[in-house]
Amino acid sequence: MQKTLLFFLSLSFFFLLNLYLISPIQAQTLNNLTGKEIFSINCAGCHPNGSNIIRRGKNLRLKTLQKNGYNSVEAIANIITNGKNNMSSFKDRLTEKEINQVAKYVIEQAENNWQ
Ligand code: HEC
Repeated sequence: MQKTLLFFLSLSFFFLLNLYLISPIQAQTLNNLTGKEIFSINCAGCHPNGSNIIRRGKNLRLKTLQKNGYNSVEAIANIITNGKNNMSSFKDRLTEKEINQVAKYVIEQAENNWQ
């Protein structure tokens, strides 16, 4: 009888320990997607390698971004948040932090010519 009790006690102890130790780590990895990962999950479908499969002229190359006024993190974060024409809004899918991260990634990649 005591053995069973001990068994369940240690079982629940390990279960709680697990929750305590493992869940913060999992939460952290979920929240720590890089700009690159956010881009490949949410943007690369329409913008592979910084192109634009729907409106070819509206790509993410540095010259185009400059011409269309999207050469800043703020302007890119704005189009991601609110969408435009055939580009959907991401405000329900990405956090503000993720939007800023992916906007920074787009600028970095544009400056590197999407190499
Ligand atoms: C469903 C396809 C689609 C997805 C997904 C998409 N976009 Fe777009 N994106 C477009 C289209 C279409 C335009 C052109 C909008 C317009 O001006 O009419 C555009 C325009 C842009 C522009 C402005 C480009 C320019 O030179 O005018 C930026 C920057 C941009 N997208 C970034 C992103 C980022 C970052 C993501 C991911 C968070 C993303 N897009 C996801 C279709 C998409």
